[in-house]
Amino acid sequence: MRFAIVGAGAIGTVHARLIDALDDELVAVVDTDLDRARQLADQYGARAVPDAAGAYDEVDAVSICLPSALHADAAIEALHAGKHVLVEKPVDITLAAADRLIAAQRETGRTVSVISQRRFQEPVARIKQAVDSGALGRITSGIVESAFYRPQSYYDGDGWRGTLAIDGGGALMNQGIHALDLLVWMLGRPVSVSAQTGQLAHENIEVEDVAAATVTFESGAIGLLLASTAAYPGRPVRLSIHGDQGTAVMDDDRLTVLTGTEDLGEQSSTQQAHLAQYRDFVDAVREGRPPAVTLEAGRRSLATVLAVYESAREGRPVELQEA
Ligand SMILES: NC(=O)c1ccc[n+]([C@@H]2O[C@H](COP(=O)([O-])OP(=O)(O)OC[C@H]3O[C@@H](n4cnc5c(N)ncnc54)[C@H](O)[C@@H]3O)[C@@H](O)[C@H]2O)c1
Repeated sequence: MRFAIVGAGAIGTVHARLIDALDDELVAVVDTDLDRARQLADQYGARAVPDAAGAYDEVDAVSICLPSALHADAAIEALHAGKHVLVEKPVDITLAAADRLIAAQRETGRTVSVISQRRFQEPVARIKQAVDSGALGRITSGIVESAFYRPQSYYDGDGWRGTLAIDGGGALMNQGIHALDLLVWMLGRPVSVSAQTGQLAHENIEVEDVAAATVTFESGAIGLLLASTAAYPGRPVRLSIHGDQGTAVMDDDRLTVLTGTEDLGEQSSTQQAHLAQYRDFVDAVREGRPPAVTLEAGRRSLATVLAVYESAREGRPVELQEA
Protein backbone atom coordinates (compact mmCIF):
# COMPACT_ATOMS: atom_id res chain seq x y z
CA MET A 1 0.00 0.00 0.00
CA ARG A 2 1.25 3.52 -0.77
CA PHE A 3 1.23 5.93 2.17
CA ALA A 4 1.59 9.65 2.75
CA ILE A 5 2.50 10.88 6.21
CA VAL A 6 1.20 14.28 7.34
CA GLY A 7 3.42 15.63 10.12
CA ALA A 8 7.09 14.70 10.06
CA GLY A 9 7.74 15.16 13.79
CA ALA A 10 8.44 12.61 16.51
CA ILE A 11 5.61 10.21 15.72
CA GLY A 12 5.68 10.81 11.95
CA THR A 13 9.22 9.46 12.03
CA VAL A 14 8.01 6.34 13.82
CA HIS A 15 5.21 5.87 11.25
CA ALA A 16 7.75 6.04 8.42
CA ARG A 17 9.72 3.22 10.06
CA LEU A 18 6.56 1.13 10.52
CA ILE A 19 5.49 1.56 6.88
CA ASP A 20 8.98 0.50 5.83
CA ALA A 21 8.94 -2.49 8.20
CA LEU A 22 5.67 -3.67 6.63
CA ASP A 23 7.18 -3.44 3.13
CA ASP A 24 4.59 -0.84 2.26
CA GLU A 25 5.68 2.28 0.43
CA LEU A 26 6.09 5.82 1.77
CA VAL A 27 5.33 8.06 -1.21
CA ALA A 28 4.97 11.54 0.29
CA VAL A 29 5.75 13.41 3.51
CA VAL A 30 3.76 16.57 4.24
CA ASP A 31 4.97 19.12 6.77
CA THR A 32 4.71 22.91 6.90
CA ASP A 33 8.34 22.73 7.98
CA LEU A 34 9.66 21.64 4.59
CA ASP A 35 13.18 20.91 5.89
CA ARG A 36 11.68 18.44 8.33
CA ALA A 37 9.58 16.88 5.60
CA ARG A 38 12.67 16.55 3.39
CA GLN A 39 14.79 15.01 6.13
CA LEU A 40 12.26 12.25 6.61
CA ALA A 41 11.24 11.82 2.97
CA ASP A 42 14.84 11.49 1.78
CA GLN A 43 15.41 8.46 4.01
CA TYR A 44 12.67 6.56 2.20
CA GLY A 45 12.86 7.95 -1.35
CA ALA A 46 9.58 9.81 -0.83
CA ARG A 47 8.67 13.33 -1.99
CA ALA A 48 8.48 16.18 0.52
CA VAL A 49 5.69 18.74 0.29
CA PRO A 50 4.63 21.68 2.49
CA ASP A 51 0.87 21.05 2.33
CA ALA A 52 -1.57 18.31 1.47
CA ALA A 53 -2.82 19.90 -1.77
CA GLY A 54 -1.50 17.74 -4.58
CA ALA A 55 0.44 15.50 -2.16
CA TYR A 56 -1.90 12.57 -2.52
CA ASP A 57 -1.30 11.50 -6.14
CA GLU A 58 -0.45 7.80 -6.20
CA VAL A 59 -1.30 7.49 -2.50
CA ASP A 60 -3.75 4.91 -1.08
CA ALA A 61 -3.66 5.85 2.60
CA VAL A 62 -2.71 8.85 4.70
CA SER A 63 -1.25 8.74 8.23
CA ILE A 64 -2.13 11.83 10.25
CA CYS A 65 0.72 12.61 12.65
CA LEU A 66 -0.05 16.28 13.34
CA PRO A 67 -0.52 18.05 16.68
CA SER A 68 -3.78 16.78 18.19
CA ALA A 69 -6.22 19.60 17.36
CA LEU A 70 -5.34 19.33 13.65
CA HIS A 71 -6.26 15.65 13.29
CA ALA A 72 -9.88 15.72 12.17
CA ASP A 73 -9.57 18.44 9.52
CA ALA A 74 -6.51 16.80 7.97
CA ALA A 75 -8.19 13.39 8.04
CA ILE A 76 -11.37 14.78 6.44
CA GLU A 77 -9.29 16.38 3.67
CA ALA A 78 -7.63 13.02 2.99
CA LEU A 79 -11.00 11.21 2.98
CA HIS A 80 -12.42 13.69 0.49
CA ALA A 81 -9.39 13.03 -1.70
CA GLY A 82 -10.50 9.37 -1.66
CA LYS A 83 -7.83 8.07 0.72
CA HIS A 84 -7.98 5.68 3.67
CA VAL A 85 -6.78 7.24 6.91
CA LEU A 86 -4.82 6.18 9.98
CA VAL A 87 -5.03 8.95 12.57
CA GLU A 88 -2.87 9.28 15.65
CA LYS A 89 -4.46 9.51 19.09
CA PRO A 90 -6.40 11.36 20.30
CA VAL A 91 -8.83 11.31 17.38
CA ASP A 92 -9.01 15.11 17.91
CA ILE A 93 -9.59 17.21 21.01
CA THR A 94 -13.36 17.92 20.76
CA LEU A 95 -16.37 15.70 20.18
CA ALA A 96 -17.58 18.09 17.47
CA ALA A 97 -14.37 17.45 15.50
CA ALA A 98 -14.61 13.68 16.08
CA ASP A 99 -18.21 13.72 14.87
CA ARG A 100 -17.32 15.65 11.70
CA LEU A 101 -14.69 13.01 10.98
CA ILE A 102 -17.12 10.15 11.65
CA ALA A 103 -19.61 11.78 9.24
CA ALA A 104 -16.92 12.11 6.54
CA GLN A 105 -15.88 8.47 7.02
CA ARG A 106 -19.48 7.30 6.61
CA GLU A 107 -20.00 9.54 3.58
CA THR A 108 -16.85 8.37 1.78
CA GLY A 109 -16.94 4.73 2.95
CA ARG A 110 -13.14 4.71 3.38
CA THR A 111 -11.33 2.91 6.17
CA VAL A 112 -10.31 5.01 9.17
CA SER A 113 -8.54 3.76 12.29
CA VAL A 114 -7.37 5.65 15.37
CA ILE A 115 -4.01 4.66 16.80
CA SER A 116 -4.27 2.91 20.14
CA GLN A 117 -1.31 0.59 19.85
CA ARG A 118 -1.48 -0.75 23.38
CA ARG A 119 -4.56 -2.76 22.41
CA PHE A 120 -2.19 -4.81 20.27
CA GLN A 121 0.27 -5.64 23.06
CA GLU A 122 0.31 -9.38 23.70
CA PRO A 123 -0.47 -9.14 27.46
CA VAL A 124 -3.34 -6.73 26.77
CA ALA A 125 -4.77 -8.98 24.06
CA ARG A 126 -4.65 -11.92 26.50
CA ILE A 127 -6.44 -9.95 29.21
CA LYS A 128 -9.09 -8.85 26.72
CA GLN A 129 -9.58 -12.45 25.67
CA ALA A 130 -9.95 -13.50 29.33
CA VAL A 131 -12.56 -10.76 29.84
CA ASP A 132 -14.52 -11.63 26.69
CA SER A 133 -14.43 -15.40 27.26
CA GLY A 134 -15.82 -15.05 30.77
CA ALA A 135 -12.65 -16.58 32.30
CA LEU A 136 -12.59 -13.83 34.95
CA GLY A 137 -16.32 -14.15 35.65
CA ARG A 138 -18.39 -11.02 35.97
CA ILE A 139 -16.06 -8.03 35.62
CA THR A 140 -16.38 -5.94 38.75
CA SER A 141 -13.54 -3.39 38.55
CA GLY A 142 -10.48 -2.24 36.67
CA ILE A 143 -7.53 0.01 37.46
CA VAL A 144 -5.19 1.76 35.05
CA GLU A 145 -2.14 3.75 36.02
CA SER A 146 -0.27 5.91 33.54
CA ALA A 147 2.31 7.28 35.98
CA PHE A 148 4.71 8.96 33.57
CA TYR A 149 7.24 11.73 33.91
CA ARG A 150 7.90 14.55 31.46
CA PRO A 151 10.52 17.18 32.33
CA GLN A 152 9.65 20.87 32.00
CA SER A 153 11.68 20.94 28.76
CA TYR A 154 9.12 18.59 27.16
CA TYR A 155 6.46 21.31 27.45
CA ASP A 156 8.86 24.20 26.75
CA GLY A 157 10.31 22.62 23.61
CA ASP A 158 7.39 22.58 21.18
CA GLY A 159 4.85 25.37 20.92
CA TRP A 160 1.74 23.18 21.00
CA ARG A 161 2.45 20.87 23.96
CA GLY A 162 0.63 21.80 27.15
CA THR A 163 -1.74 24.20 25.35
CA LEU A 164 -5.51 23.89 25.66
CA ALA A 165 -6.05 24.98 22.06
CA ILE A 166 -3.85 22.36 20.35
CA ASP A 167 -2.94 19.65 22.91
CA GLY A 168 -6.46 19.91 24.35
CA GLY A 169 -5.32 18.61 27.72
CA GLY A 170 -2.27 17.27 29.47
CA ALA A 171 -1.30 14.03 31.20
CA LEU A 172 -4.64 12.42 30.34
CA MET A 173 -5.45 13.78 26.85
CA ASN A 174 -1.93 13.24 25.54
CA GLN A 175 -0.40 10.33 27.50
CA GLY A 176 -3.01 8.67 29.74
CA ILE A 177 -5.53 8.25 26.93
CA HIS A 178 -3.64 5.09 25.93
CA ALA A 179 -4.31 3.53 29.35
CA LEU A 180 -7.83 4.91 29.59
CA ASP A 181 -8.60 3.40 26.19
CA LEU A 182 -7.62 -0.02 27.57
CA LEU A 183 -9.91 0.39 30.58
CA VAL A 184 -12.81 1.37 28.32
CA TRP A 185 -12.03 -1.46 25.90
CA MET A 186 -12.14 -3.99 28.76
CA LEU A 187 -15.06 -2.62 30.79
CA GLY A 188 -17.42 -1.34 28.06
CA ARG A 189 -19.49 1.80 27.83
CA PRO A 190 -18.69 4.43 30.46
CA VAL A 191 -21.77 6.13 31.89
CA SER A 192 -20.48 8.37 34.67
CA VAL A 193 -17.18 9.99 35.66
CA SER A 194 -16.04 11.62 38.87
CA ALA A 195 -12.61 13.22 38.66
CA GLN A 196 -9.97 15.58 39.93
CA THR A 197 -7.04 17.14 38.12
CA GLY A 198 -4.03 19.16 39.25
CA GLN A 199 -1.08 21.07 37.88
CA LEU A 200 1.69 20.33 40.33
CA ALA A 201 5.15 19.94 38.84
CA HIS A 202 5.23 22.05 35.65
CA GLU A 203 5.08 25.75 34.85
CA ASN A 204 3.69 27.74 31.94
CA ILE A 205 1.27 25.05 30.85
CA GLU A 206 -2.50 25.38 30.52
CA VAL A 207 -3.26 21.72 31.24
CA GLU A 208 -3.15 19.15 34.04
CA ASP A 209 -0.10 17.08 34.92
CA VAL A 210 -2.10 14.80 37.25
CA ALA A 211 -5.61 13.43 36.68
CA ALA A 212 -7.47 10.88 38.80
CA ALA A 213 -10.95 9.55 38.16
CA THR A 214 -13.49 6.92 38.99
CA VAL A 215 -15.49 5.74 36.00
CA THR A 216 -18.75 3.80 36.29
CA PHE A 217 -19.59 1.54 33.36
CA GLU A 218 -22.94 0.47 31.92
CA SER A 219 -22.39 -3.04 33.33
CA GLY A 220 -22.06 -1.59 36.83
CA ALA A 221 -18.29 -2.23 36.91
CA ILE A 222 -16.20 0.54 38.44
CA GLY A 223 -12.88 1.75 37.05
CA LEU A 224 -10.07 3.75 38.60
CA LEU A 225 -7.71 5.88 36.54
CA LEU A 226 -4.51 7.76 37.29
CA ALA A 227 -2.70 9.73 34.57
CA SER A 228 0.36 11.77 35.38
CA THR A 229 3.35 13.39 33.73
CA ALA A 230 4.63 14.38 37.17
CA ALA A 231 5.52 10.93 38.55
CA TYR A 232 9.32 10.84 38.49
CA PRO A 233 11.00 8.77 37.08
CA GLY A 234 7.89 7.34 35.37
CA ARG A 235 6.67 3.75 35.14
CA PRO A 236 5.17 1.66 32.36
CA VAL A 237 1.38 1.51 32.18
CA ARG A 238 -0.17 -0.83 34.74
CA LEU A 239 -3.55 -2.43 34.06
CA SER A 240 -5.55 -4.60 36.48
CA ILE A 241 -8.90 -6.18 35.68
CA HIS A 242 -10.87 -7.90 38.43
CA GLY A 243 -13.81 -10.24 38.10
CA ASP A 244 -15.76 -12.37 40.56
CA GLN A 245 -13.86 -15.42 39.33
CA GLY A 246 -10.42 -14.08 38.46
CA THR A 247 -7.91 -11.26 38.14
CA ALA A 248 -5.57 -10.23 35.34
CA VAL A 249 -2.71 -7.74 35.65
CA MET A 250 -0.23 -6.27 33.17
CA ASP A 251 2.74 -4.54 34.75
CA ASP A 252 6.06 -3.54 33.20
CA ASP A 253 4.58 -4.50 29.81
CA ARG A 254 4.21 -8.14 30.86
CA LEU A 255 1.35 -10.22 32.16
CA THR A 256 2.05 -10.71 35.88
CA VAL A 257 -1.26 -12.26 36.95
CA LEU A 258 -3.87 -14.18 34.99
CA THR A 259 -5.90 -16.40 37.28
CA GLY A 260 -5.69 -20.05 36.35
CA THR A 261 -2.82 -19.60 33.88
CA GLU A 262 0.71 -20.90 34.24
CA ASP A 263 2.14 -19.37 31.07
CA LEU A 264 2.30 -15.60 31.49
CA GLY A 265 4.30 -15.01 28.31
CA GLU A 266 6.99 -12.50 27.47
CA GLN A 267 7.44 -8.76 27.86
CA SER A 268 5.88 -6.94 24.92
CA SER A 269 7.07 -3.64 23.48
CA THR A 270 4.73 -0.88 22.37
CA GLN A 271 6.75 -0.57 19.11
CA GLN A 272 5.75 -4.11 18.17
CA ALA A 273 2.20 -3.20 19.08
CA HIS A 274 2.29 -0.08 16.88
CA LEU A 275 3.46 -2.26 13.98
CA ALA A 276 0.65 -4.73 14.67
CA GLN A 277 -1.90 -1.92 14.48
CA TYR A 278 -0.45 -0.78 11.14
CA ARG A 279 -0.76 -4.35 9.89
CA ASP A 280 -4.38 -4.47 11.05
CA PHE A 281 -5.13 -1.20 9.22
CA VAL A 282 -3.55 -2.39 5.96
CA ASP A 283 -5.38 -5.74 6.21
CA ALA A 284 -8.67 -3.97 6.98
CA VAL A 285 -8.33 -1.86 3.80
CA ARG A 286 -7.42 -4.89 1.69
CA GLU A 287 -10.18 -7.06 3.13
CA GLY A 288 -12.81 -4.30 3.18
CA ARG A 289 -13.55 -4.90 6.86
CA PRO A 290 -13.62 -2.43 9.76
CA PRO A 291 -10.27 -1.92 11.51
CA ALA A 292 -9.77 -3.24 15.04
CA VAL A 293 -9.78 0.32 16.44
CA THR A 294 -12.62 2.25 14.86
CA LEU A 295 -13.33 5.96 14.91
CA GLU A 296 -16.25 5.28 17.25
CA ALA A 297 -13.83 3.64 19.70
CA GLY A 298 -11.54 6.68 19.47
CA ARG A 299 -14.53 8.92 20.10
CA ARG A 300 -15.57 6.95 23.18
CA SER A 301 -12.13 7.34 24.77
CA LEU A 302 -12.06 11.05 23.88
CA ALA A 303 -15.54 11.52 25.39
CA THR A 304 -14.30 9.92 28.63
CA VAL A 305 -11.25 12.21 28.74
CA LEU A 306 -13.48 15.25 28.25
CA ALA A 307 -15.87 14.02 30.97
CA VAL A 308 -12.89 13.76 33.36
CA TYR A 309 -12.02 17.40 32.63
CA GLU A 310 -15.61 18.56 33.02
CA SER A 311 -16.04 16.70 36.31
CA ALA A 312 -12.78 18.10 37.70
CA ARG A 313 -13.68 21.64 36.60
CA GLU A 314 -17.20 21.57 37.96
CA GLY A 315 -16.60 19.49 41.07
CA ARG A 316 -19.42 17.03 40.33
CA PRO A 317 -19.97 13.68 38.60
CA VAL A 318 -20.57 13.91 34.83
CA GLU A 319 -22.89 11.58 32.90
CA LEU A 320 -21.74 10.37 29.48
CA GLN A 321 -24.08 10.11 26.50
CA GLU A 322 -23.09 7.98 23.52
CA ALA A 323 -23.47 9.73 20.13
N1 LIG B 1 0.78 6.70 19.54
C1 LIG B 1 1.74 7.22 20.26
O1 LIG B 1 2.38 6.54 21.06
C2 LIG B 1 2.10 8.67 20.09
C3 LIG B 1 3.35 9.12 20.52
C4 LIG B 1 3.67 10.47 20.33
C5 LIG B 1 2.75 11.33 19.75
N2 LIG B 1 1.54 10.88 19.36
C6 LIG B 1 0.55 11.78 18.75
O2 LIG B 1 1.04 12.19 17.50
C7 LIG B 1 0.70 13.56 17.25
C8 LIG B 1 1.96 14.34 16.88
O3 LIG B 1 2.87 14.30 17.97
P1 LIG B 1 4.43 14.54 17.76
O4 LIG B 1 5.05 14.27 19.07
O5 LIG B 1 4.91 13.80 16.57
O6 LIG B 1 4.45 16.12 17.44
P2 LIG B 1 5.64 16.94 16.77
O7 LIG B 1 5.47 18.35 17.23
O8 LIG B 1 6.94 16.26 17.00
O9 LIG B 1 5.33 16.83 15.20
C9 LIG B 1 4.26 17.50 14.58
C10 LIG B 1 4.68 17.90 13.17
O10 LIG B 1 3.54 18.45 12.51
C11 LIG B 1 4.01 19.56 11.72
N3 LIG B 1 2.87 20.43 11.46
C12 LIG B 1 2.25 21.27 12.33
N4 LIG B 1 1.19 21.86 11.72
C13 LIG B 1 1.13 21.37 10.45
C14 LIG B 1 0.24 21.56 9.36
N5 LIG B 1 -0.82 22.36 9.45
N6 LIG B 1 0.49 20.87 8.22
C15 LIG B 1 1.55 20.04 8.11
N7 LIG B 1 2.43 19.83 9.12
C16 LIG B 1 2.22 20.48 10.28
C17 LIG B 1 5.10 20.18 12.57
O11 LIG B 1 5.98 20.98 11.77
C18 LIG B 1 5.80 18.95 13.13
O12 LIG B 1 6.83 18.48 12.29
C19 LIG B 1 -0.01 14.06 18.52
O13 LIG B 1 -1.40 14.07 18.31
C20 LIG B 1 0.35 13.05 19.57
O14 LIG B 1 -0.70 12.85 20.52
C21 LIG B 1 1.22 9.56 19.49
